[in-house]
Amino acid sequence: MIAVENILRERIFNKERIVDLLNADANESKFIFEEAARIKKKYIGNKVHLRGLIELTNKCSKNCFYCGIASSNKKINRYCLSMDEIERAIKFTDDNNYGSIVIQSGELQSEEFVSYVEKILHKIVEISWGRLGVTLSCGEQSEDTYRRWREAGAHRYLLRIESSDENHYYKLHPKNAKHNFQTRINAIKSLKETGYQTGTGVMIGSPFQTIENLADDLLFMRDLDIDMCGMGPYIEHEDTPLFQYKNICFSKEDRLQLSLKMIAILRIMMKDINIASTTAMQTLVNGGREMALKAGANILMPNTTPSNYRENYSLYKNKPGMDEEAEDSKQSIETLIERAGYEVAYSEKGNAKHYYNRLVSSAV
Ligand code: 5AD
Repeated sequence: MIAVENILRERIFNKERIVDLLNADANESKFIFEEAARIKKKYIGNKVHLRGLIELTNKCSKNCFYCGIASSNKKINRYCLSMDEIERAIKFTDDNNYGSIVIQSGELQSEEFVSYVEKILHKIVEISWGRLGVTLSCGEQSEDTYRRWREAGAHRYLLRIESSDENHYYKLHPKNAKHNFQTRINAIKSLKETGYQTGTGVMIGSPFQTIENLADDLLFMRDLDIDMCGMGPYIEHEDTPLFQYKNICFSKEDRLQLSLKMIAILRIMMKDINIASTTAMQTLVNGGREMALKAGANILMPNTTPSNYRENYSLYKNKPGMDEEAEDSKQSIETLIERAGYEVAYSEKGNAKHYYNRLVSSAV
């Protein structure tokens, strides 16, 4: 094992070295976090960009073993926001100068759903006069759908790979045509080809995952040359098949430390990408999102879903902000960012710098 300081000095991030970094103890981890903070300051600056999050629908055609909105979970009420409700959320995000909006949903491929999203995208452009940046997170879709949504105004897309190791992927998902590992990878690639700022990410500390898997996940993101990343700790949900393995998972403390190290190492490896400080961080520990910002994240996503729907969008248990109105979330997000020592970047889209840099470097 090579000392953390030497790895950071030499800047060679192969699998073995990344494993060493992920295994670093609390004393050594300090160096990783210091280096990530230095790089973040230099390449990203002091600003945190916001994305007003709309959880459009919890209807989902998939059956991921970890997820509370999987179609086999009969214990939740399924909803889809009406255009009126969505318009209100768009106006809230725009009136408060968040700069960007994220539409997240269960994975549906019907023409009805695809055209509803298309209509929503037109509405966002219309209401905000094109001021708002638009990210979609609506799962695997055909290239044609990705193109339609791109043309309707979306320009960023987040599709998590969840695990870049094929064997581990099938511990988290049923092995069938609807949950095909290669199809998912192809979908991420097709997003890039369609011209989206493309993001992916993984769950950290999920059952059967190893430190080696996590090192591979970071290399996967680097090799794919992604523009954005959203990753966070796995949180067990009692109404899912993976709940039975809760006793063989990493401890909560280990998941927290691993998540922070994953963010910090990714920031060191991919200096100019956008990294989200995710809600799951906050679910795991109070103050988790603040810690993620300090570890290298630069994006926060205040929830603007009408509060009466939020409990039904429980991907995992104890999600924070369940009973808060959007206004409260705004206040708490601002306080959080300032407490972490950063500044809210209002009225800016906050596109990934990496996206522009990769376009420039592929043009020369
Ligand atoms: N714990 C943590 N993250 C989860 N997600 C879904 N279920 C869980 C869970 N139990 C994440 C997945 C998905 C995103 C929308 O939420 O990574 O891509």
